[in-house]
Amino acid sequence: MSKIITAPSLLSSNFGNMKKGIESIERSGADWVHLDVMDGSFVPVITFGHKMVSDLRPLTDLPFDVHLMVNHPETFIESFATAGADYITIHQEASIHLNRIIERIRENGKKPGISIVPSTPLSHVTEILPFVDLVLIMTVNPGFGGQSMIDNCLLKVTQLKEIKVRKGYNFLIEIDGGVNKDTFKKAIEAGSEVLVTGSAFFKSEDPAKYVNMLKSI
Ligand code: DX5
Ligand code: ZN
Repeated sequence: MSKIITAPSLLSSNFGNMKKGIESIERSGADWVHLDVMDGSFVPVITFGHKMVSDLRPLTDLPFDVHLMVNHPETFIESFATAGADYITIHQEASIHLNRIIERIRENGKKPGISIVPSTPLSHVTEILPFVDLVLIMTVNPGFGGQSMIDNCLLKVTQLKEIKVRKGYNFLIEIDGGVNKDTFKKAIEAGSEVLVTGSAFFKSEDPAKYVNMLKSI
């Protein structure tokens, strides 16, 4: 079994001092930095844009996992690629011509990901699976940290893992929302390979211990 990748989300860090957030992710031994970009349209709140990503980029060598919760993601591919994203994940619900945008991400030298919200069935992304490096199954309705995991969504993770193995695809299976000490085991058992974790990481008294626990299975 391959190792679990941990991706703490800066959404739950102090936006007045994101440098500190990056430092605590580094110190914890986590693998990636998850950056939640929200536009106030696709989701009800606004977080930050490509300038934040570019200003944070020199602070760490950890991969930047940029999760675009925005409408018209095609508008932003170049700016986030130039800002230093490694993975750029767009939402199936936000765009019609997914193949074209995924290809644009690749042309910009970045790894494309596709995400679906809890109410979207897995069947809405099956045609795009051969072309992506990451599939992000949302386990909460996107927009806010600190929500409870919707267990139902883990069924999609299991189905996705089965498709991945059967077809020999290479994408990573990531989940986002409600990952904490009480939920990570069932998420991994379902087939998750990358765990995004926001509030549980930043509220943890010992982030390194918390990350170790997520990676212990
Ligand atoms: C939610 C974001 C998540 C968020 C997860 O819309 O996409 O990345 O930070 O937060 P927790 O881990 O607190 O559910
Ligand atoms: Zn996210």
